[in-house]
Amino acid sequence: MSNPVALVTGSSSGIGMAIVREFAAHAYDVAVHYNSGSDRSDARGHTQTGEQRATASADQLRAELGVEAAAFGADLSQNDSAFVLVDAVYERFGRLDVVVSNSGVVNFVKDESGKIVRHQFAETPIEHLDREMERVLNINLMGAYRVGQRALKLMMEQAERERSAGSEVLHRSILFVGSVSDVAPESTRIPYGVSKAGLNHVVLGAAFDGGPSNITVNAMRPGVIVTPLTSRPSGVVDPVTGQEYTVAETYGLMAKGGSQAIPRIGKPEDVACAAYSFTQIPYMTGQLIAVDGGFTMVNGFPNREVFLQEGLRRQQAERK
Ligand SMILES: NC(=O)c1ccc[n+]([C@@H]2O[C@H](COP(=O)([O-])OP(=O)(O)OC[C@H]3O[C@@H](n4cnc5c(N)ncnc54)[C@H](OP(=O)(O)O)[C@@H]3O)[C@@H](O)[C@H]2O)c1
Repeated sequence: MSNPVALVTGSSSGIGMAIVREFAAHAYDVAVHYNSGSDRSDARGHTQTGEQRATASADQLRAELGVEAAAFGADLSQNDSAFVLVDAVYERFGRLDVVVSNSGVVNFVKDESGKIVRHQFAETPIEHLDREMERVLNINLMGAYRVGQRALKLMMEQAERERSAGSEVLHRSILFVGSVSDVAPESTRIPYGVSKAGLNHVVLGAAFDGGPSNITVNAMRPGVIVTPLTSRPSGVVDPVTGQEYTVAETYGLMAKGGSQAIPRIGKPEDVACAAYSFTQIPYMTGQLIAVDGGFTMVNGFPNREVFLQEGLRRQQAERK
């Protein structure tokens, strides 16, 4: 029998690259996906295009792990590209067992000099308001929604063929990579949070369709992970050196200071093993699971010392 097949969108970088490797390490043939557009205009610091990174990764997985691996390009913000991508992968490998919808971007605003600036919601310039919401929703929500729809349809057709042939209906799985930003509030990244909150509902609806065909649909919601996405400036400056921290560094300092139970931010491998595991559980569906080192668990009590010290500081300031 042939290897099972996994498509991981956005696997030319960061979390997706680690996830696609995890599936290959478990003897899946894999489709490594990249965005067809150039990535030089973003803030992620890549020196190679998505195509170059995806092709190199596919070559490496074939050579190191002995699986079939191929690179596929698609800009998932475009109407038909998700359908074309999923169909192309199915055609290339002849089956589709797991789809991880992982492609995603954050919202940001650049000033005239190209520097990323952060605006609180109420202060965001009007020309950026709709533009950033549309850009982020087109990729994170609409792209994922279309990938999920096509994957579910193809998986249901495969199940139907197995049923008609009187053979076992295999367990298949769709996993959306969401984010704890679906609930964690942050005034400067509302479009991103909206896109991830929207994905949660796609999961719930799709799980109902998939269940009778032995297809499970879930979301993995990572906390902050060190990837090119979180290498952008955070706006937080070291009071001693004056150096601006990246998003990853800022959340790393918070983790050290007690913002989460595990006092470090995540690595792509930390969430890749979770992504693989969540697709292997035949009786878990419609779940929205945080993999965040405890960032979103109820954390007021462990942080009582931080809040107490801040309360005392503010009270002193009011008395002056
Ligand atoms: N890093 C975190 O802290 C964190 C936390 C929670 C959730 N997440 C989520 O995890 C996922 C991966 O993030 P990451 O940190 O690994 O980011 P990343 O390193 O920037 O990777 C993003 C991936 O998405 C692809 N992509 C970008 N625009 C696309 C488009 N228009 N169409 C199709 N694909 C596109 C990129 O392709 P190219 O490389 O070709 O541009 C790349 O493969 C995202 O959904 C993100 O929201 C990340």
